[in-house]
Amino acid sequence: MPATVQIFQTADGSHSLLRTDLGEPYHSRHGALTESKHVFIRHGLDMFRRQESRVNILELGFGSGLNALLSLDWSRENAVKVGYCGYECHPVPIEMAAILHFFAGCEDGLGGLHRAPWGQRVLLEPFFEFEKRNAGIEDVRNTGERFDLVYFDAFAPSVQPELWTLSVFTLMFEVLRPGGVLVTYCAKGDVRRTMQACGFAVERLPGPPRKREMLRALKPHSI
Ligand SMILES: C[S@@+](CC[C@H](N)C(=O)[O-])C[C@H]1O[C@@H](n2cnc3c(N)ncnc32)[C@H](O)[C@@H]1O
Repeated sequence: MPATVQIFQTADGSHSLLRTDLGEPYHSRHGALTESKHVFIRHGLDMFRRQESRVNILELGFGSGLNALLSLDWSRENAVKVGYCGYECHPVPIEMAAILHFFAGCEDGLGGLHRAPWGQRVLLEPFFEFEKRNAGIEDVRNTGERFDLVYFDAFAPSVQPELWTLSVFTLMFEVLRPGGVLVTYCAKGDVRRTMQACGFAVERLPGPPRKREMLRALKPHSI
């Protein structure tokens, strides 16, 4: 079945998308904006508030652009440079992206992310360099790039088990700098053990609304 998407409203009023062929939402139904802020910004990007060099972020996958949008706003508010690289193998149609709404005033930033060309690095704002790649995350292997932070925002392991594997987390471990961080909304025990088998030190943190926990994986500094 082809990848088809529909917009729906989540409990905090922000939009999300539903992959109708998979029956899987892009975010928590209990609040897309609340979840993204909690998992990826508060427990991820906020760790880099005092970093003086650019914070390089890798995202799996770019999707609606919500995590990229929050990171763009964060870079401006904190005056910290961010380099953002989002992989996406099934881009959201541009007409659909144009009507997504996450919070008041989000249109300009979100529009800029969705209109940006695929496969080209662009300086969207003084503190925010952005590139989205229409490719599977596996392609990052041969780029030689290194990141400070990974937003691991794949569909759930029950839907996309092939992305929650030793080989994918080993790749994420390899592309992170020593001291780098991976965050995900997922808190499953077997995912945590797979991350640990790759060398990550994994923390269980309080989850977003209606979710007890989430995971944050740290690549040791001494590697
Ligand atoms: C749970 S959604 C989250 C999307 C996005 N972070 C957001 O906030 O809207 C998962 C996304 O990963 C994308 N995806 C699935 N498999 C992928 C892969 N192998 N490489 C890159 N992106 C992938 C999907 O198309 C989808 O957009």
